[in-house]
Amino acid sequence: MSRLQSLPPYLFSSLDAAKAKARAAGVDVVDLGIGDPDLPTPPSLLDAMAAAVRNPSHHRYPAQRGGALLRSAIADYMARRHGVTVDPSGEVLVLLGSKEGLGHLPLALLEEGDVALVPDLGYPVYAQGTLLAGGEPRTFGLKPENGFLPDLSTLPGLFDERVRLVFMNYPNNPTGAVATPAFWSAAAELCGEAGAVLVNDAAYLEVTLDGSRPVSMLASADHRTRRVIELHSLSKMFNMTGWRVAFAVGNAGVIADLGRVKESMDSGVFGAIQETAALALGPDCESLLAGVMAPYAVRRDVILAALADAGFEVFPSPATFYVWVRVPAGEGSVAFCSRALEEIGLVITPGVGFGPGGEGWFRISLTAPDERIAEGARRLKEWR
Ligand SMILES: Cc1ncc(COP(=O)(O)O)c(C=O)c1O
Repeated sequence: MSRLQSLPPYLFSSLDAAKAKARAAGVDVVDLGIGDPDLPTPPSLLDAMAAAVRNPSHHRYPAQRGGALLRSAIADYMARRHGVTVDPSGEVLVLLGSKEGLGHLPLALLEEGDVALVPDLGYPVYAQGTLLAGGEPRTFGLKPENGFLPDLSTLPGLFDERVRLVFMNYPNNPTGAVATPAFWSAAAELCGEAGAVLVNDAAYLEVTLDGSRPVSMLASADHRTRRVIELHSLSKMFNMTGWRVAFAVGNAGVIADLGRVKESMDSGVFGAIQETAALALGPDCESLLAGVMAPYAVRRDVILAALADAGFEVFPSPATFYVWVRVPAGEGSVAFCSRALEEIGLVITPGVGFGPGGEGWFRISLTAPDERIAEGARRLKEWR
């Protein structure tokens, strides 16, 4: 089988088609499926970008691994916000979105036939990047009884000499689960003993809705002594999903390996975007984040109240802009979500779209305008 043929089918295509059909039939569809911020990038960043775009030095090829300005802003941000010291010259790499870094990481670390441990359920790119690199994804389960964290006592059973890479993602999409410092130090130790690189996909690290401080893996797993890296993204931090800017921080050897793959693939992030990203991560970062996250907390309360009224069981979480909900007993997640579209015109994401481990759950995204969230909540409440 070719690498391309090994990629799994896109599980959401039938739902996408059903959504398009409902819209064409005139249904007022409330779409709480996609996780893509509806609100614009903060005005101060737009102003900075508008000015930066006129700087002719940005019209040339950018610094491929990220310019000094952005790399030092990233190091400052990691120290100030997470208490983590990284060397901006060798322990930071600017990415064209964290998806790009996650997708290329297996190419940097796996030889043909090597194994990456990937979570079931999880963001599909971990397994897809592994397959495209000629590697083999091997899944570990995330169970509600473990708070959707891997059971570290069973993880060693999955390791053998072919395992080179372990993907984790906390705060987690789609469940909203968060990891503790104790979890990270134990996970890093296990992976280190097994000779595997541990990567945390931290795309949602700053999406906390209860004011709690996010926990970076690197605060408890020392990247100077362990092969650990963390991928951060400005996409969800500042409503910048369309801009494509993110970064990897952590172990210098792993950063260098990923950088070598990228050298053959891309020529870096547009300089004006880098300059704006440096500003976003600077001293105004906390106030910008507070403004971006505030609407989600309000929206979440509206949805949680409706779900409680309708008798749904929700996985409690302080993080991400998703709400993870149990499908009523006896129904599959795809069947349930199809019925939600048919009966109340509501688009929600079946858990099984994130892997077999997501069966029995569905995800509601809070990235829709307040009035659509309110309408979705009203329909849910009246439905059951
Ligand atoms: C878990 C997770 N990781 C990474 C990404 C990629 O984000 P980006 O490439 O915009 O940084 C997403 C996007 O939805 C995601 O859900």
